[in-house]
Formats: sequence, structure tokens, C-alpha cells
Amino acid sequence: MIYFKWTSAIEIGHVEIDSQHRRLFLLGEAVVESLIDSVEHKLAATHLQTFIAYAREHFKYEEMQMNSAGYPQAERHAKYHASLLAELVMHCNKVHWGQNTDSEALTSFLWNWLILHIDLADRDMVDWIKSQGSDVEDKRNSNLQQLSGNSPASPTTV
Ligand SMILES: [Fe+2]
Ligand SMILES: [Fe+2]
Repeated sequence: MIYFKWTSAIEIGHVEIDSQHRRLFLLGEAVVESLIDSVEHKLAATHLQTFIAYAREHFKYEEMQMNSAGYPQAERHAKYHASLLAELVMHCNKVHWGQNTDSEALTSFLWNWLILHIDLADRDMVDWIKSQGSDVEDKRNSNLQQLSGNSPASPTTV
């Protein structure tokens, strides 16, 4: 059974961010499977640590995108990231020490924060960045194409 099933409805229209979200889903699935299948809670904690490390990198990437685009909600969004990470670390510590082995509760927590954050905060961010015409990734691609003598097929390819 797949708990964290990726569908196109979850995509927010930014190639790199969608790809990172997809990876978070895969890592979240590994956490849930280890919680359910394993009697050894430290394995689940290890998967959760991997999930947290990737979430931290993903959040940095989004914050770089927001800051470089001048997104007006960047500070609020970054605070949301920080509070999600703090909650994740708290859950991870509990799982590691065997204080939270309620797999259903942890699955709901992971699923809710992924879906709610992506569908509300991240979607708003990407919509705004796209409404401004481009983002860091686009500019980088455009510069590379100019250097190689090719013009971009479209000014907004996200
Ligand atoms: Fe995100
Ligand atoms: Fe985000």
C-alpha cells in the first residue's frame, strides 16, 4: 500500500520545486513504511532524519527563490518552514527514544503538513513568482542559453 501517493493535482507548476516535493513524498513514504513494518523504531527515526535533512535543503531552495524574487510573504513563509522543521525534529526525537510509535498519528502529521504547506503556501509563492515573469532558475537557464547561442523557447518555462 502506498500512503504518500503523488498525483499531478499536487504539482504547483515549478519544475524544480515539484521535483523536490516528489522526493519528499518518497522519503515520507519510507518513514511511514518503516513505522508500520518495523518493530525497531530507530529505523523509522533514521528515515525521519533523512526526510528532515532533505526538507531543510528544500526549504533553503524555496527561500532563495522567494528572496531573489522579492516575494512579499517570504518572511512569513520562512517562519512556517522553521516551525515545520522544529515539529519534525520533535517527532523524530520522540520516535528515536520510543516515545511516539503511533504510526497513524505520525503519518497524518506528515501527510497534513506536506499537503497543506504545498497546496497553500508553496502554491501561492510559485503563482506570485510566475506572475512576476521569471525566477532564479529561469534566469540561469536563459543566461546559459544565451551563452550557448540559443534563445529560450519561452520566457517562462516553469
Ligand atoms: Fe515546498
Ligand atoms: Fe514552502
